[in-house]
Amino acid sequence: MTSDEVREGFLSFFEGKGHTRVASAPIVPQDDPTLLFINAGMNQFKDVFLGTGSRDYRRAVDSQKCLRVSGKHNDLEEVGISTKHQTFFEMLGNWSFGDYFKREAIAWAWELLTDVWKLPNERLWATVFEGHEGDGLEPDEESEVLWPEMTGIGPERVLRLGKKDNFWEMGETGPCGPCSEIHYYLGGDPGAQSANPDLEGPDYTEIWNLVFIQFDRDSSGRLHRLPESHVDTGMGLERVSSILQGVDSNYDTDLFVRIISAISEISETPYSEESGVAMRVIADHVRALVFTIADGALPSSEGRGYVLRRILRRAARYGRTLGLHEPFIHRLTKTVADTMGDAFPEVRKQAPHIVQVIQSEEEGFGKTLDRGIEIFETVSRRGRISGADAFQLYDTYGFPLDLTQLMASEKGLEVDEVGFEREMAGQRTRSREATRDLFVAQDRIGLPERHSEFVGYETLSSEATVVATQAGPDGLIDVYLDVTPFYGESGGQVGDVGRVYNDSFSVRVDDTLRRGSAVVHRGRLEGGEKDVLTDAPVKAEVDRDRRTDTARNHTATHLLHAALRRVLGDHVNQAGSLVSPDRLRFDFTHLHGLDLAQKEEIEVIVNESIREDLAVDISHVTLDKAREMGATMLFTEKYGDVVRTVRIGEVSLELCGGTHVTSTGQIGLLQLTAETGTAAGVRRIEALTGREAERLLRRERKTLSELERLMNAPVPDLPEKVSDLISRNRELERELHGLRRDQAGSEMEDLVHRAFEVEGVRVVAAKAEPQNMEGFREMADRLRDGLGTGVGVLGATMNGK
Ligand code: SER
Repeated sequence: MTSDEVREGFLSFFEGKGHTRVASAPIVPQDDPTLLFINAGMNQFKDVFLGTGSRDYRRAVDSQKCLRVSGKHNDLEEVGISTKHQTFFEMLGNWSFGDYFKREAIAWAWELLTDVWKLPNERLWATVFEGHEGDGLEPDEESEVLWPEMTGIGPERVLRLGKKDNFWEMGETGPCGPCSEIHYYLGGDPGAQSANPDLEGPDYTEIWNLVFIQFDRDSSGRLHRLPESHVDTGMGLERVSSILQGVDSNYDTDLFVRIISAISEISETPYSEESGVAMRVIADHVRALVFTIADGALPSSEGRGYVLRRILRRAARYGRTLGLHEPFIHRLTKTVADTMGDAFPEVRKQAPHIVQVIQSEEEGFGKTLDRGIEIFETVSRRGRISGADAFQLYDTYGFPLDLTQLMASEKGLEVDEVGFEREMAGQRTRSREATRDLFVAQDRIGLPERHSEFVGYETLSSEATVVATQAGPDGLIDVYLDVTPFYGESGGQVGDVGRVYNDSFSVRVDDTLRRGSAVVHRGRLEGGEKDVLTDAPVKAEVDRDRRTDTARNHTATHLLHAALRRVLGDHVNQAGSLVSPDRLRFDFTHLHGLDLAQKEEIEVIVNESIREDLAVDISHVTLDKAREMGATMLFTEKYGDVVRTVRIGEVSLELCGGTHVTSTGQIGLLQLTAETGTAAGVRRIEALTGREAERLLRRERKTLSELERLMNAPVPDLPEKVSDLISRNRELERELHGLRRDQAGSEMEDLVHRAFEVEGVRVVAAKAEPQNMEGFREMADRLRDGLGTGVGVLGATMNGK
C-alpha cells in the first residue's frame, strides 16, 4: 500500500462514517500568535473545542501538515537517531465536535486498523488514563470498559498510564483531555510478548492517539469543563505507513526512499549505518523547509524565520559529514515535490520559489560554515564549549546554539548555555545603547504610559487637553493628549502631521508615533516655553491634504495586493509595506521579476476598481468571524479578539488599522513606478496615486512636449523618429571612424617615410594627436604595419596626461 493509498484510505473510511473531508490548514498559523507552527491536527479546530467558533459540520476528517520543533511538542533531537520521528509529518485525524464520543471513536479506530488494514489483533495494545489527583481527575474507566466491549481486544491488553502519556494538551493552556493510545508490537512472535510490556521500548510503537477533549486549561493551570465533549484523534501517516508497508523505519517508506536516494546520489555515499543519521536528518529537514516555505515562511533572524534558519543550518552541517561542501539542500526540493505534490499541490506550485529561497540561504551560510567548524574543532579541544565560544560561533559564523550543542554532544561535551545567554544579553544591551535615542532613554526613566483616545477615524480635528510633555530628539517636543485625531505610525502607514495649538502657542507636529496605547505628537513649539503646555486646552488639527493623500495610498495598497494575487497567484503574501502621503511601497513574496504585460495587467485591474468607485466598508468583528469571511491577515501581526476589517467591494478584505478613503474613486489614479527585488523570493513594487500620479503624468507630458519640439514630430511619431536618429547617428559614427582611420593611415605612412636609422634599425618617434584612445591604438597598428621591422614610439597628450 503506498502512503498516498494509506492517506486516502483513512480519509475515505471516515467519509463513509459521515465525516466531512477538510483540507490541511497551512503549516504557518494564520491567526494564532501563540503558535509558531501548526503542531497538531486540532490547531485549526481550537475555536470549535473552546466553543468560540463553529463549522457547518460536526464530524471532520483530514491529514494535517505538522511541524514539531519548538514549544511543548518538539521532536528535533529525536529526528534521524530515532527512525520513528520527524519534525515535519502528516497527522491523520478524525474529529467529533460535540457529536460522537469514546464509543464510536474506539470502535471505528479498531475497524479501520483490523478490518480494513488487516493489522493482527494480537499485536495491538490500548492504553487509558489512570487519573490524576492534582488535577482532580478520576481514571478513565469508561474507556477501559469500552475497549474490550467494542473491539476484539482482551482486557489484559488494555493498560492504565499516567498524565504524561495519556492526558493530551496542545500547550500550557487550551483544550485538553484524557486520551487512549493504540500501540503496535513490532517484534517477531506475537505470542512471545510479556504481559507487562515496555510500550516505550524498541519493540513497540504508538500509532494512534484518541483524545477525548473535555477541558480547557487556564493560565493558572486550572481545568475548566467544556460545555461539550469532543474527539480529536491523531495518527502519524509516516509511522502507520511503515507498518503497512512492512518496513522497520519511517524513512524506509515511499515517503522518504526517493529523498534518501537523492541525498545518496548527490553525496555519492551509500545509505548505511554510518551515513544513516545524517541522511535521515537531511531528508526530514528538507521536507520541513519545503513545506514551511511553500506556506509563506522565510528564513530570518528571529521568531518563525529563525526556526527555518536553524533547521537549514543543521541540515547543511550534516551535509558536511557526507562530504557535501556546496549548497545541496535546494536540489532536493524537486524530489520532495515529486513525492508529495499530488497530496499537496502547493509544494509543486511553489517549487521554484522554494529552491531560490533555500539556495540563497545555503550560500550565505556556506561561506562561514567550514571556518566555523574549524573554530569549533579548536575550541572543543578545551573539553567544554564556553559561553564566549558558543557566542562567537553564533555571532560570527552563524551557528545557532542548538547546532553547537549538537556538535558538542557528538563529542560528549557540554555547552555553557548560561554563559551563552549572558553574552547574548550583553550584545543586546550594546546594540540597544548604540541605537538609543533620547526617546528610549526617557522611556527607561519611566514616564507612565498614557492612553490617548484616538478619534482620527471619524474626524481630523478635535478639542483636547495636554496630559504630558517630554523633550524629544533634536530640540523637538513630544506632546501627549487625552484625545487625538492624529494617526500614529503603524502597520506601514506613516504618522500624521498637523498642528496642536491654542491662542498662546502652537506646536507644528512633524510626526506622530505610537507608544503602547499612547500617541506621541512630535514637533516644534512656537510662541512660548515648555510650561505653557502644562494641562493646556488645545485644538489638535491634522493636515487634511496629507492625510487624504495617505488614505489614497493605503486603500490603493489593498487593491494592489488583491491584484497581485489575482495576476501572480495565491502565494503572494505581504512582506512589508510603506504608506506615505507621496507614495506607496509594497513588498511581497514572489520569485521572478514581473514582465511588462503583468505590470500592465496589475495597473489596469487596480484602475478599473478605482473607476468602479467601490465602497470601502470598515467593520469590527471577532477574529474568528474575520477568518471565516476569508480576510487576509499577516503571519507576523498579533491580533486581538476583535479586529478591524477593511472591505473594498468584492475585491479585497483585509484586517487593517489604517485610514482609508470612503470609496475607491477618491484614489483617482494609480501609476506603478518601479518593480525590483529586495531579497530572495521577495519583490517590491512602488506606485503613486492621486495628486502624485497626476504630477508624474504632467512631468512626463512635459518631457514629451519638449521632445516633440526638438524632433519636430508629434508624439506618436517620436519612437520612429528617435530610432531613425539613432541609426543615422551610428552610420555617421562609422563613416567618421573610417575617415579617421584613413587619416591615421596616411599620417603613419608619412612617419614611416621619415624614419631614421640607428645601427641598421629603422626608428620612428613622433608626437601624435589622436581623437581618443581607440584612434591612438589605430595609429600604433598602422605604424607597426608600415614599419615592418623596426622601433616605433608614439606619444600623445590625452586629458591633460
Ligand atoms: N491532538 C492529539 C495529538 O496531537 C491527537 O490528534 O497527538
